[in-house]
Amino acid sequence: MITKDTILKIIKYAAKAPSGHNTQPWKFKIGNDSISILPDFTRALLVVDSDNHALYISLGCALENLIIAANQFDYETKVTIHNNGNETFIQIDLYQVEEIKKTDLFNFIVKRQVTRNKYNPEKIQKEVLRELFDDVLDKCVQVKLFLSKTEIETLTPYIIEGTNLQFNNKAFVKELVSWVRFSEKEVLLKGDGLWSASMGLPNMGRCVGNFVMKNFVTAKSEAKRWEKIISKSEGFALFMVEKNDPEHWIKLGQAFQRFGLMATKMNIKHAHVNMPCEELPVREKMIQNFQLYEYTPLLLIRFGYSNPLPYSYRRNINEIIIKS
Ligand SMILES: Cc1cc2nc3c(=O)[nH]c(=O)nc-3n(C[C@H](O)[C@H](O)[C@H](O)COP(=O)(O)O)c2cc1C
Repeated sequence: MITKDTILKIIKYAAKAPSGHNTQPWKFKIGNDSISILPDFTRALLVVDSDNHALYISLGCALENLIIAANQFDYETKVTIHNNGNETFIQIDLYQVEEIKKTDLFNFIVKRQVTRNKYNPEKIQKEVLRELFDDVLDKCVQVKLFLSKTEIETLTPYIIEGTNLQFNNKAFVKELVSWVRFSEKEVLLKGDGLWSASMGLPNMGRCVGNFVMKNFVTAKSEAKRWEKIISKSEGFALFMVEKNDPEHWIKLGQAFQRFGLMATKMNIKHAHVNMPCEELPVREKMIQNFQLYEYTPLLLIRFGYSNPLPYSYRRNINEIIIKS
């Protein structure tokens, strides 16, 4: 039987996964030689993620970390996705084996981060790009790449339109601000959310932070900021699913996590530009204009070379475990 210590270690690696606004919308239930990853809807983002697709993508990222970590500790995994009528959840059965193929991506679970600064004007070589996306695709997950200046420019109007819709929506800004942690004290206390330092911003405290977000961060200032960031990116990857349901969202999360770990291994930084996927009218325009008909685009990721930023925090393991 697998020891409690090993189970806890595996869960800690799983919880290093990325999640929308760093909500960490997961609970881990420990069974007999199994772990289940359950959605924590108390942490759902009702405005920006009203159908919970980002929540399930985040669970998929945690699942991929969990599988890689279990393999590292000599456990083979069998994954089953259940739906009990109210929610979809993931059960992972663990089997100890003598010899198991391990991946060096394990070493990058703790080093991976979403890096939100401007990237350097340094080209990514074709062979590097091929390797980066080699293991990302899955039968039900596709990635469309935008690499040349002209291709990247075709994305700009959708990014700006999505940004405008979001920053002109008071409910979106309120939800976003509620997840920003404006000081190290606040992030240490909560262990979740978007720490200002990991977004490249100074510590300012909640009062000043609220004031700045409400008065200085506008649709116009954001659109300007994004235009600069877009022009500094070496490429964009649009992650899409064949079917828009929780099972495919989880698969997309797994594929995205493999990409994030591989990028980290190759010293390539990445960050989200999801607004055109999150705003449904803009998503629909992208589907029509890029002729994506059979696919639903859910994540838009920029990548390139740059320096790291401070790491985001995670909650204490006791807060994410359900005792059975
Ligand atoms: C499904 C999903 C959606 C995300 N959406 C955004 C986004 O729109 N903008 C952004 O800056 N980061 C986004 N992120 C990145 C998270 O904010 C980030 O993973 C989280 O803050 C934890 O930081 P870390 O990944 O560096 O550990 C998203 C991550 C996931 C998994």
